[in-house]
Amino acid sequence: MRSILLRDYGGEAAAQVAESPNPAAGAGQVLVRVRAAGINALDWKVREGYVRDAFPLQLPAVLGIELAGVVEALGPGASRFRIGDRVMGPLGGLGAYADHVAVDEARLAPTPEGLSDVAAAAIPVAALAAWQSLRFTGAIGSGSRVLVHGAAGALGAFAVQFARQAGAFVVGTASARDLDYVRSLGADQVIDYESQRFEDLVGDIDLVLAYVGGDVIDRSWKVLKPTGAMVGTSSPDILARTPEGRQGHWFVMKPDAVLLEKLAADVASGVLKSKVGDVVALEDIPAAIERNRVGARSGKVVADFTR
Ligand SMILES: NC(=O)c1ccc[n+]([C@@H]2O[C@H](COP(=O)([O-])OP(=O)(O)OC[C@H]3O[C@@H](n4cnc5c(N)ncnc54)[C@H](OP(=O)(O)O)[C@@H]3O)[C@@H](O)[C@H]2O)c1
Repeated sequence: MRSILLRDYGGEAAAQVAESPNPAAGAGQVLVRVRAAGINALDWKVREGYVRDAFPLQLPAVLGIELAGVVEALGPGASRFRIGDRVMGPLGGLGAYADHVAVDEARLAPTPEGLSDVAAAAIPVAALAAWQSLRFTGAIGSGSRVLVHGAAGALGAFAVQFARQAGAFVVGTASARDLDYVRSLGADQVIDYESQRFEDLVGDIDLVLAYVGGDVIDRSWKVLKPTGAMVGTSSPDILARTPEGRQGHWFVMKPDAVLLEKLAADVASGVLKSKVGDVVALEDIPAAIERNRVGARSGKVVADFTR
């Protein structure tokens, strides 16, 4: 089968199209024929070896962490799906950039009718990570003030909508070209991160969602209430950047098929907006991973395997 194989840690050339052996579904797994897969920042972080401690890998390894596709075979004991069912989900590991992947059935949700495979593949990691990180330190409700850094990104766009649904006052940072988009998702206040300093414009924040790392984290302590919390997704170094007596948390998404089914249904019915950006062929995944590293445009990039 075709796959995007990482042979050695490195730059763009380290992950290339290659033939890999077809997997078989093990106990509690289904064999999925992949039709679409979402491109994530984790792809280049894995490729470069930045996260090799957190995600130790045996190389060569097939990259890709989320998919939409069709069940082609059932492993021993697998009973949630039938052959031919459309499914979507995060893998909780790697392997989605391949024609076939064996997945624990517990991680997958049925793809709702009316949602294309490309649209479905854009949802799992971003929607689950946004939902879970918003609630990571406790309930957010009416009267809460939430600052979302990277509000036009895949996680940020969902988080703005979830925080707004929960009744919070939502501030989002994004580049100038995305400010209207972030407003359209329900943000009460938007800040152009390139020309404005968010710390001069907001304060009294209960929760900072740091979907961007580096000095954005260091500058955000000032806008948080003393009791407020910051939840970071981009790098575990948020823990080292947390001053004594403040609440900084490193967050890692957990697959949750029940929640994913609900969120996917909300996208299918139009309750939630989910924006797909570029759609690329499997052969173009290595270049798409590199473009994500260099600087993303808003909208999730998805590989369409049927192209
Ligand atoms: N820990 C986990 O479980 C987990 C799960 C999923 C994702 N993640 C991580 O979470 C992060 C966000 O993921 P994503 O999929 O949402 O990425 P994304 O779609 O690439 O979005 C990132 C967004 O951040 C914006 N941005 C860049 N610098 C900024 C700044 N200084 N201030 C405000 N916004 C800025 C980018 O805007 P421009 O277009 O202007 O560059 C882009 O819209 C990534 O680091 C990813 O690896 C972690």
